[in-house]
Amino acid sequence: MIAQARSSLTFVQLAGLLASTATLLSVSNADTGIRFGHDIARISSEFNSVFPAGNFNRNVSTTFWQTSVLVNNSNVQSDLNRILNVSFIAYDDSFYQLLGVAGYESPKQLEIIFKFPPKPAFATRQVHDGTVYAPEAKAIFFAELHVPSPGYSADAMPWVWRIDLSNQSNPQTTKVYPSPQLTIPNGAYYHNGSVFWAQEGNYTNPGGVVRMDPITLKTQVVQNNFYGHRFNSPNDIVITKTGATYFTDGYYGTDNFNDSLPALLANGIWRWDQKTGNIRQVAGAAEQAFFNPNGLALSATEDKLYITNRGKTSDDPAGGRTIYRYDVTTAGIKNREVFAYVDAGFPDGVKTDRDGRVYGAVTGGVDVFNVDGILIGRIKVANGDTAVNMVFVGNWLYIVGRDNAYRVKLNTTAV
Ligand SMILES: *[C@@H]1O[C@H](CO)[C@@H](O)[C@H](O)[C@H]1NC(C)=O
Ligand SMILES: *[C@@H]1O[C@H](CO)[C@@H](O)[C@H](O)[C@H]1NC(C)=O
Ligand SMILES: *[C@@H]1O[C@H](CO)[C@@H](O)[C@H](O)[C@H]1NC(C)=O
Ligand SMILES: *[C@@H]1O[C@H](CO)[C@@H](O)[C@H](O)[C@H]1NC(C)=O
Ligand SMILES: *[C@@H]1O[C@H](CO)[C@@H](O)[C@H](O)[C@H]1NC(C)=O
Ligand SMILES: *[C@@H]1O[C@H](CO)[C@@H](O)[C@H](O)[C@H]1NC(C)=O
Ligand SMILES: *[C@@H]1O[C@H](CO)[C@@H](O)[C@H](O)[C@H]1NC(C)=O
Ligand SMILES: *[C@@H]1O[C@H](CO)[C@@H](O)[C@H](O)[C@H]1NC(C)=O
Repeated sequence: MIAQARSSLTFVQLAGLLASTATLLSVSNADTGIRFGHDIARISSEFNSVFPAGNFNRNVSTTFWQTSVLVNNSNVQSDLNRILNVSFIAYDDSFYQLLGVAGYESPKQLEIIFKFPPKPAFATRQVHDGTVYAPEAKAIFFAELHVPSPGYSADAMPWVWRIDLSNQSNPQTTKVYPSPQLTIPNGAYYHNGSVFWAQEGNYTNPGGVVRMDPITLKTQVVQNNFYGHRFNSPNDIVITKTGATYFTDGYYGTDNFNDSLPALLANGIWRWDQKTGNIRQVAGAAEQAFFNPNGLALSATEDKLYITNRGKTSDDPAGGRTIYRYDVTTAGIKNREVFAYVDAGFPDGVKTDRDGRVYGAVTGGVDVFNVDGILIGRIKVANGDTAVNMVFVGNWLYIVGRDNAYRVKLNTTAV
């Protein structure tokens, strides 16, 4: 169940919540292979093998629970509709351990900690990406992302948001204004006392990597070219403890926003060594694997690198929607494998935990995979929202979507 942060729950909401807990608990419908608790739905393996209605279909822009049942099977349709009312979907019992619950009957809360104001009128959409936690500031930073309005006034540009966690039971989310201003910031990573942003750039400011002091919010461009070539639209970034920096670069600026020069470099993953300054492409051009690579995550032990690929559009069924896994070597990455292909949207943000699980932010929520790439469960965001990125702070996973920021307490940590 999705609840407001405790401070903003009204008495009426709270009463309703308690009443529904009592009436909905643990009703099951053996027919469809879906069992319901109040907050968790458990999908059986039989369901995954044979869909419980004879005719069905689902297009690329929908979620699993929006599958159309094409024969009259009211049980299946009503159970799919009931998934709208839960916050977690378990595909495997190991998901209960992550949630720290005994089973699907147990209560489990996903909190909405902030509702974003409406997107600017001139923008067709707005997303929130690049979640990163800076311990010095006790704060999470993430970027809003929308096309800037011509005129480029301060309000017309995408800025940065901060969730102040100095009081963990009362997170405060506000817009902040780094200086000099970032130029379409996207993914971010915390390293060595600083937040490093991957920024897309625009016609007049080349994209690249920008370092930001998490306290003063002062920024400094630290990487912006490959021997004089501009990058296309740097999207996400990770940095190993020794300073090996990986960032993805796709055609987002040109294709989504038409706000940057036509691409001159291949889509790919770049490795910038902060110690030597060496910059080189380590995946992409040579193997043709990527079209608009996007999210990046290192495993907790920094021996694996996860890279997501969007494809031409967010729901491109061919080539997009994939999380690839590489081995990290001392000089780069090798051994690409398909780690997971997701069924809704594409994994924009991707993160890992200390137990080897991988989290992908997709349409409808966050997919959780075990270390073998098996989908064990989903954390659903509010109906209609799309999860964009997330970050662990201790046991809490903070998720930013297009519409809201959320958090859920999990039985793991990032490292
Ligand atoms: C996809 O399916 C959903 C639900 O059935 C429907 O609302 C939507 O219009 C469909 N979109 C396309 C592109 O067919
Ligand atoms: C399902 O039932 C409705 C009314 O009960 C009917 O109008 C419709 O044609 C039926 N559809 C199928 C595919 O049998
Ligand atoms: C979802 O919950 C609402 C509010 O408790 C209820 O009115 C509705 O019937 C539920 N929907 C399903 C499909 O169970
Ligand atoms: C939390 O996870 C550990 C394994 O990492 C497990 O032993 C423990 O039982 C889990 N706790 C709960 C409450 O599920
Ligand atoms: C933290 O926030 C909670 C909830 O608003 C409040 O009750 C508590 O007094 C705050 N703690 C501090 C140290 O300000
Ligand atoms: C590029 O971004 C900068 C902010 O970093 C802004 O001042 C400038 O107006 C933008 N230019 C264009 C052409 O979008
Ligand atoms: C951390 O930053 C300091 C300067 O503030 C620098 O000397 C050092 O090399 C950096 N270490 C890494 C691993 O990036
Ligand atoms: C993209 O922007 C350029 C320069 O502002 C403009 O000439 C061109 O018409 C735009 N293309 C589209 C498809 O909007």
